[in-house]
Amino acid sequence: QWSSVPKGPPDAILGISEAFKRDKNPRKVNLGVGAYRDDSGKPVILPSVQKAKSIILETPDHEYLPIDGLNKFTQLATSLAYDNASPLKDHRVASIQSLSGTGALRLGMAFIKRFYPYSGKVYIPNPTWGNHKAIIQHSGLEFIEYTYYDPNTKGLNIEDFLGEIDSAPKNSIFLLHACAHNPTGVDPSQDQWREIQDLMARKQHLAIFDMAYQGFASGDVDKDAFAVRLFANEENPMIVMQSFAKNFGLYGERIGNLSVVCNSSQEVDRVSSQLKILARPMYSNPPIYGSRIVSTILGNPELKNQWLVDVKTMADRIINMRSSLVKLLESKGSLHDWSHIVKQIGMFAYTGLLPENCNELMDKHHIYLTMDGRISMAGLNSKNVEYVAEAIETVTRF
Ligand code: LMR
Repeated sequence: QWSSVPKGPPDAILGISEAFKRDKNPRKVNLGVGAYRDDSGKPVILPSVQKAKSIILETPDHEYLPIDGLNKFTQLATSLAYDNASPLKDHRVASIQSLSGTGALRLGMAFIKRFYPYSGKVYIPNPTWGNHKAIIQHSGLEFIEYTYYDPNTKGLNIEDFLGEIDSAPKNSIFLLHACAHNPTGVDPSQDQWREIQDLMARKQHLAIFDMAYQGFASGDVDKDAFAVRLFANEENPMIVMQSFAKNFGLYGERIGNLSVVCNSSQEVDRVSSQLKILARPMYSNPPIYGSRIVSTILGNPELKNQWLVDVKTMADRIINMRSSLVKLLESKGSLHDWSHIVKQIGMFAYTGLLPENCNELMDKHHIYLTMDGRISMAGLNSKNVEYVAEAIETVTRF
């Protein structure tokens, strides 16, 4: 009975990992998926996570979590994003543990679809993370792109971005990347965030923050929460979707947090009850292990300090790789300007490589990347960066 099922295309990001796995060439390099690797190309278990794991081992727990997850985790995760912003101080934030960032987005969109009182499409940046469009559509919503990146300057097109916030109907929904914009690595400055926040407040737009890289933009988790805390303190309508995959290196644990800013603690009660009603038929309750690890770390000052060092170590290695790559491209004689790679932040560089360059890198050089020219800087290390620079120089020669 499935004879009419058509074969679907591979995922734009995870499909690259599948192709990489199939490649038998020993020189192969995976710059596709955003997953941290150390300087020998190996996945990392953060020292803080390693310690938390040994603490957890002493009190094994394989019970079901409540539908909304581990309370200690949602509290600590929410304050990691908001710090002591006024809605959190006033107990006006409804939080629910989610299946990482994707699960937070999916649940948040389902909540918006069912309860947001205003109609309209979800505004997403152009470009944005490959999964956003599908998450929005699968939740029964529609999206519309807003201008974000300027291919000429390889920076932010703040003028058009603000213009589109202004011309969108009142109470529109805007998806924003809290920091380390994926795929471009281009973030608004703090002054630009203030302009965005002010205009969004005047239009009463709902801000949806995808916060998947807290700590990865600057190496400082507080700096990277600037936009979220600004919007919260200014009482903008907002929802935050946090992922702990990258900043805790907990990719497979599927650990995230969805938080909805409300007007009163009574509203929190009502919103929380509905978030649980939405989550229960999707996956019953979230996995316990990752929430225990993250809450053990964030709830213990010593482990938290270790974790802050761990995050900075990862961010710094990526920053070093940016300058190595650019220096090597120059020393290989590339006549292009690659300076945007050092200016961009977060896990990715948005190189400007064209689809034909990407195909050539994959087919001839065994270097895997997404077709939009995004490369995961975390896939580079001191052993492969020269090989990658040489290949990029070759495929982009005039
Ligand atoms: C990415 O953009 O590579 C990551 O967010 C991983 C993913 O699920 O796509």
